[in-house]
Amino acid sequence: MKSTGAKQAMTGNRTGMQTSPALAEELIEGSSSAVPSSEGGVEDIAEYRGEYIAEGFPIGSMLMMPASEEAGAGEDEAGMAVFLDKLSERLAFERMGTRLYEALLNRCETLGEMTPGPTLEQIEHIGREELEHFLLINRTITELGGDPTVQSPCADVAGVTSMGIMQVLTDPRSSMAQCLQALLTAELTDNDGWRLLIQLADNLGHDGIESRV
Ligand SMILES: [Fe+2]
Repeated sequence: MKSTGAKQAMTGNRTGMQTSPALAEELIEGSSSAVPSSEGGVEDIAEYRGEYIAEGFPIGSMLMMPASEEAGAGEDEAGMAVFLDKLSERLAFERMGTRLYEALLNRCETLGEMTPGPTLEQIEHIGREELEHFLLINRTITELGGDPTVQSPCADVAGVTSMGIMQVLTDPRSSMAQCLQALLTAELTDNDGWRLLIQLADNLGHDGIESRV
């Protein structure tokens, strides 16, 4: 059971130095006299990062297509690799999208029907669509001879990028407006992602993708 005092402490203003000039002065003095816990500064951080960048390790895995005759036969291999990478990205994004709407549904069910914003039915509907998109991409990768369980480079990056959106949706302190703003970021990215995917499919002669969406 959470106490009212604890709730007040959690919801109180925690930033903004100008609300307490005396404590602000004390804070500045404290930070000026404190000794850093480790040596070096931003230059050292950049140097360390530079060493890792120079190693040139790729992110994710490119091993999406089995070495079979069917997979990519007669296709531009490089083009197919890009297409599968972007398909894997959409797969990761639609998976995350499904979870985002589950989180929004959870919030709206908790707050009740009077909460401004989409209705529970609308959220469930969009969530189901996200799942259908996920299954469509999953099937498409399999039909092309790829492996939908592979986390491709673009899928890896998409997953990491969308983590912030999930954090907003699952943070109990987020307002409905803030959740919808975060979802807008996801939806705009998703729209552009599909547009690019359809363009890539056209280039490779896979015109079935667009009609299935
Ligand atoms: Fe979607």
